[in-house]
Amino acid sequence: MIMDRNTRYCLVVFCVVLLCVIPSSGDETDTSNSLLKFKESLTNANMLSDWKEPVANLCSPIWIGCVCTHGVLTGLRLEGMGLGGKIDIESLSNLSSFTSLSVMNNSFSGPFPSDLNKLQKLRSLYLANNKFNGEIPDKAFSGLKGMRRVVLGNNEFAGNIPMSLLQLPRLVDLQLQSNQFEGEIPDFWQENLTVNFSYNKLEGSIPATLRSQNASSFYGNKLCGMPLDICKPKKLTWKIGLIIAVAVGIALAAIIIFFLIFSRRIKPLKYQKSIDKSHREDPLSSQSGAFKNSEHGKLQFVRNNIQRFELEELLRASAEVLGSGSFGSSYKAVLFSGQTYVVRRFRQMSNVGKEDFQEHMRKLGRLSHPNLLPLVAFYHRKEEKLLIADFAENGSLASHLHSKRGPNQPGLDWPTRLRIIKGVSRGLAYLYEELPTLSLPHGHLKSSNVLLDSTFEPLLADYALVPVINKDHAQKFMVAYKSPESSQNDRVTRKTDVWSLGILILELLTGKFPANYLKQGKGPSADLATWVNSVVREEWTGEVFDKDMNLARRGEGQMLRLLKIGMCCCDWDVDKRWDLKEAVEKIEELKEKDSDDDFSSYASEVDMYSSRTMTDDDFSFSKA
Ligand SMILES: *[C@@H]1O[C@H](CO)[C@@H](O)[C@H](O)[C@H]1NC(C)=O
Ligand SMILES: *[C@@H]1O[C@H](CO)[C@@H](O)[C@H](O)[C@H]1NC(C)=O
Ligand SMILES: *[C@@H]1O[C@H](CO)[C@@H](O)[C@H](O)[C@H]1NC(C)=O
Repeated sequence: MIMDRNTRYCLVVFCVVLLCVIPSSGDETDTSNSLLKFKESLTNANMLSDWKEPVANLCSPIWIGCVCTHGVLTGLRLEGMGLGGKIDIESLSNLSSFTSLSVMNNSFSGPFPSDLNKLQKLRSLYLANNKFNGEIPDKAFSGLKGMRRVVLGNNEFAGNIPMSLLQLPRLVDLQLQSNQFEGEIPDFWQENLTVNFSYNKLEGSIPATLRSQNASSFYGNKLCGMPLDICKPKKLTWKIGLIIAVAVGIALAAIIIFFLIFSRRIKPLKYQKSIDKSHREDPLSSQSGAFKNSEHGKLQFVRNNIQRFELEELLRASAEVLGSGSFGSSYKAVLFSGQTYVVRRFRQMSNVGKEDFQEHMRKLGRLSHPNLLPLVAFYHRKEEKLLIADFAENGSLASHLHSKRGPNQPGLDWPTRLRIIKGVSRGLAYLYEELPTLSLPHGHLKSSNVLLDSTFEPLLADYALVPVINKDHAQKFMVAYKSPESSQNDRVTRKTDVWSLGILILELLTGKFPANYLKQGKGPSADLATWVNSVVREEWTGEVFDKDMNLARRGEGQMLRLLKIGMCCCDWDVDKRWDLKEAVEKIEELKEKDSDDDFSSYASEVDMYSSRTMTDDDFSFSKA
C-alpha cells in the first residue's frame, strides 16, 4: 500500500499521460460509481475516505486499493484495513475487466459471497485471514472458467469442499488451510495445481492425483495415503473386533465354568441339575455357536478354476488401500501363496435378500470374456458385502489419463487407446448379450472402472450391479443415472450405457476429465452434455485431441471418426442415439493409421470445422 516517492511520481505522470491521450469517458464514471456502491456496504472503511466524487482518475494513488493495468481497473486489493461488513459482488459485476479481488487480513465475517460467479472474468480471489464462516455452496465457483487462485485460509469455513472447484480448468493455487472443512478431498485433476488443506477436519484417503503435493498441505486432518502414511485398511478394526469378541467369549466361559464348579460345591444336590441345565443352554452354548456357525466368515467362490482360500487368509494378507469410491473402499490383498486379489467392500446392498444376492453373484461368476474383470468370490453379511475379483496390474484407465506423470513415463499412445476402446466395446457387447433382461447391463461405465492388465488390455469392472445396489444409492452415484434421460425423465433404457460409452470415448480422445461425474447426484447432469458440446464447439481445432497420443503418426482421420462415434453415442435424444450394436460395429471398423483417402478427407474436414462454428449436423457420418 505504501509507495515510495518515485513510484508515486511515475504513477502520476503515467496517469496524466493517460488522461491526455484518453479523454475521460463515461466508463470512468461508471467504474467509480461501482466502487462507491461497493464501499457503501463496507464498515470501518476509514482508509477509503478518499474514494469519493468527483473522480479524477481511478488509477491515481488516491483511489487506494485499486489495481490497474494499462489504465484500466482490473482488481481491488484491500488488505489489512480493518474492514468489515458485506462484500457487494453485484456492484462489481459491471466492471468488464475485473480479474482479482483481495480482502485478506480484515475483519469480514458471515457467509461466502454467494453470487461470486457474477464476476465472470475473475481469476484470483483472496479472502484469507478473516472470520468468514458457514458452508460454501457447491456451485459457488461454477462458470468461473478463468479462475487461477482461490485463497481462503484462516477463516471459519465449514462443510464439504465445494465441488465446483473441480470445474476450474486453470486452477493453480488452492489454499483452504486452517478452516473447518470436513468430508473427503475430491479428486482434483488440474495440472500444475498446488493445494493446502492443512488444519481442517478432512478425512479419508488423499486422492492419487494429489500424491506429489507437499505433505505439510495435509497436516492436521484425519487424512491418510501418500504423501502421508498409507491408509490402514479397515481389516485391522475387524481383527481387533474379532479378538475382543473371542476374549469376551473366553472370559464369559471362564466365569460360567467357575460359577458351575463353585455352585456345585456349595449348593445342595437337588438344585444342581436345574442350574447345570440352564447354564448349558443359555449363554455358553450360544457363544460357542456363534463361532462354529459355518456360514459366518465363509467366502463363496463363483469360479472353479481358482485355488480356494478362506476369509481369514484374506484378512491376514498384506493389504493396500487402492481407493475409496462411491460404493466403498477397495483393497489389494496379496495372499501368502502370492496370489493377488482386489477386495471391494459394499455397504449399499442391504435391501436385496440373501438368496437374490447369491443368485446374482453366481450369474456374474459364470460370465467370462477377455474384457471383463472376473469375479472370484463373494462374502455376504447383512450389513456388508465383499466382492473379490482379479487384480489388474496397470490400474485404471482414469489414472493413466489424468494423474501426473513423471517425465519418463509416456502417455497412452493412439494405438493403445484404440485397443482399449475396442476392448471396452466388446466387453460391453458381451454383457448385452449375456444379460438380456437387464436394462443397464453395465450401469457404471467410466474410466476409473476400466482396468488395464499387464498388456494394457482393458477389463471392465463394477458391471451389472444395478440389481443389487440400493436404489437410492444407485441413482445418486451410478454413472448411468447421470444420463440426460435419467436426470430429465427419470428413466433409463438399454441405450443408457451407450451414453456412458460415448462420454468415455470423448474422455479417452481429449484426455479431459468429465468433471460433472463428480457432482455425486447433487443437481442434474445437464452439464455433462454441455461439456461434450463445448469440447467440440469452443475448443475445436485439431488440438482437441490429447497431445499425449503422439499425433505424429498418421491417425488423425481415425481419431476424428472415433470422436464422431462418441458424439453419436451422446445424442440427448434417445431415439436418435445409436444403439450399442451400431456403436460397436463402427468402432470395430477403425484402424490405427489412416489410409491416404482417410487422411485427405480428414485434412479437408478439419479445414471445414476450423473455419466456422460447428453444428450437430457436422457430426453425422458423411462417409459411413
Ligand atoms: C494484518 O493487518 C494488521 C493491521 O490491521 C497488521 O498490523 C498486521 O501486520 C497484518 N498482518 C498480516 C499478516 O498482514
Ligand atoms: C502447466 O505448466 C507447464 C509448464 O509451466 C505448461 O507448459 C502447461 O501449459 C501448464 N498446464 C496448464 C493446464 O496450465
Ligand atoms: C500449508 O499451510 C500450513 C498452515 O498455514 C503451513 O504450515 C504449511 O507450510 C503450508 N504448506 C504448504 C505446502 O504451503
